[in-house]
Amino acid sequence: MKILKYVLPLLLTFTQCTKKIVKPVEPAIIPIPEYQEIKNGTFILSNATHVSGDSDMSIMLEYFNAYLETNLLIKPNSNKEKNSIDFLIDKEIKNDEEYYLSITKNNIQIKSKTAKGAFYGVQSLLQLLPAKSNAKKISIQCLEIKDKPQFAYRGMHLDVARHMFPVSFIKKYIDLISSLKFNTFHWHLTEDQGWRIEIKKYPKLQEIAAFRDETLIGHYNDQPQKYDGKRYGGYYTQEEIKEIVKYASERFVNIIPEIEMPGHSQAAIAAYPELGCTGEKVEVATKWGVFDEVYCPTETTFKFLEDVIDEVVELFPGKYIHIGGDEAPKIKWKNSKFCQQLIKEKNLKDEHGLQSYFIRRMEKYINSKGKQIIGWDEILEGGLAPNATVMSWRGIEGAVKAVKEHHNVIMTPTSHCYFDYYQSENENEPLAIGGFLPLEKVYSFNPIPNELTKEESKYVLGAQGNIWTEYMKTPEKVEYMAFPRAIALAEVLWSKPEHKNFEDFKNRLMVFQKKLKAKEVNFANHLHEISGNLSENKNNELIYTLTSSSGNSIIRYTLDGTNPNITSEAYTSPFTINNSTNIKAASFNNGEQISAIYSTKVNLHKAVGKKINLNVEPHRSYNAGGKQAMINGVSGSNKRYGDKEWLGFSGEDVNITIDLDTLTTVNTIKMRFHNGNGQWIYAPKKIKIYFSSDCNVKKKLDFIPIKNRDSLLVNVNIKLKDVKASKVFIEIPNYGIIPEGKQGAGFKAWTFIDEIIIE
Ligand code: ACM
Repeated sequence: MKILKYVLPLLLTFTQCTKKIVKPVEPAIIPIPEYQEIKNGTFILSNATHVSGDSDMSIMLEYFNAYLETNLLIKPNSNKEKNSIDFLIDKEIKNDEEYYLSITKNNIQIKSKTAKGAFYGVQSLLQLLPAKSNAKKISIQCLEIKDKPQFAYRGMHLDVARHMFPVSFIKKYIDLISSLKFNTFHWHLTEDQGWRIEIKKYPKLQEIAAFRDETLIGHYNDQPQKYDGKRYGGYYTQEEIKEIVKYASERFVNIIPEIEMPGHSQAAIAAYPELGCTGEKVEVATKWGVFDEVYCPTETTFKFLEDVIDEVVELFPGKYIHIGGDEAPKIKWKNSKFCQQLIKEKNLKDEHGLQSYFIRRMEKYINSKGKQIIGWDEILEGGLAPNATVMSWRGIEGAVKAVKEHHNVIMTPTSHCYFDYYQSENENEPLAIGGFLPLEKVYSFNPIPNELTKEESKYVLGAQGNIWTEYMKTPEKVEYMAFPRAIALAEVLWSKPEHKNFEDFKNRLMVFQKKLKAKEVNFANHLHEISGNLSENKNNELIYTLTSSSGNSIIRYTLDGTNPNITSEAYTSPFTINNSTNIKAASFNNGEQISAIYSTKVNLHKAVGKKINLNVEPHRSYNAGGKQAMINGVSGSNKRYGDKEWLGFSGEDVNITIDLDTLTTVNTIKMRFHNGNGQWIYAPKKIKIYFSSDCNVKKKLDFIPIKNRDSLLVNVNIKLKDVKASKVFIEIPNYGIIPEGKQGAGFKAWTFIDEIIIE
């Protein structure tokens, strides 16, 4: 033992100085393989390693050798063969994407049915190598892996219409997703704000539809809306698209192009006004949202779209064309004589029937080209086209309905798959569209809806993460929003549900982050982020709990409003709250702050810790804090509505009862409503408040009109005189139907309610 004590440090020093051999990377593969066994020993990768493969594997060999040379400066295949890496075809393997990876001291074997399976074997192998190295020899942990995916469709989407990104970034994105074993890139190419695919037959798509005059600054809900005054746009040439398709195919990624119809088509109509119902000239949209301008179902439009499809199918070899179908307002069709006549002629029920006619007709054309269509779940309205695959985004209902009609579905519900939502509750997060979708929630996703039987679940092809880029101007911002959430989704789609474990995933993610750093990916890191919660203990005292998402750090906190530092109190257990308090906390490791500062104010007003009842449940997507969040002493974010303090109600009147326990003097009631009209959220026009001192209703006031409803946050401050109450009743009628000309027109508004402060 004694000898070892002296020899070991010397050995370590020697290896570190010469940098000849690098220690093996601890296996931490994402997505976690189906079967994995760590063995004794290591394989030494060097220029003396020989790489070979069956002839069908040539594409893989090129990819693998290029990776080694670029990232590790290793050029195998010299004639000084010491050990070997062999890519072998095994026709006994059933699944094209399955692979077997065996690493022994002298040999690495990757067996698969196809080169695609081998590609996934290589991705696992690369995760066992350092991200970058200039060492001459690299040791790799011996192990054995048998692995295959759970879902056949594993997709990531990117909207290049709201903001456009260079070809080099599209390739980087494809490279990153393929390294996580995604096999599909859904490329959203056309929108109201820009048309991004060159169509040679229609040059005005390039001259007019590809450019907008200016772009909205800040959030859509900011009032007044401001614009940057700068022309913005561009498009991908057919040559660039071919280059990207080839690059993707070398990484076994299929690209699904999306050509939106009949909605989200204002840019195309700006270029060719005859495609709209009025023939009026419109501009390429300069702000976000849903626009009334949609294609008119005339022969001119169908000819245009068929010509577009003719060029699209030549560029994209995959089986699917995505035709959009989402968010197509019907107002132009309602007011069009032509459309009304067509509805009669074709014996359709209404405008939804007309949308169904539109999609079916395009499906027939696309099928005639040997391709299948995918559409967002609105294509169910008015009847589904016979061979369509449905992409379920407004929840899972669309998927369930489509499966019951025996159609394939791809799951991409906003609740778990919209990576344009916020991923942290920290006030300093970069601007996002709204919502709240933290990493853990993505990881918890089960793509199979509970409503489906085992037999029916076969129609669920898989799932997809969506990157809508209204609030992502740069590649760096796309990376921040996509990663690590796409990494969590990769494991959801590839790995067996019984192997999923969020704590273990986070540990592996910390290893994976090194790869992302080496690839210069601007990933978000909320692994050490702090959250807090106010609750009551057994002795009816209010206590505050702080938690860090990761266990390997110390939380330090202050209660006086100052920022915590390395000398601040270390958190060990929940502390009692006796007064209104400012809490600030952060995670520290080795004397370094490794998280953003968590900051919250607890306001101990008279309703905190009391009982509350509601006549309706908040909507499940906006109910993270539960009803108690309305009287927990903590107000929601000033900027957003997606945190656990704001509760959202979809279209319902909300009646609230707060039981104050004992007769209490009530001097003021303060409430706050969100009023983000762009997201269909409206503060109520009026509320009613009344009280009881025991069972009898004592004091009933009239409805109080809510004034100053123009700002994003609407404050209500009701001053009272001589009110003693044991119960407070609050009635909040829903705003009602959203008026014409606004986002969501014709639908009932959402109501978002923050803390109810009783003083
Ligand atoms: C969508 O998010 N409009 C599909």
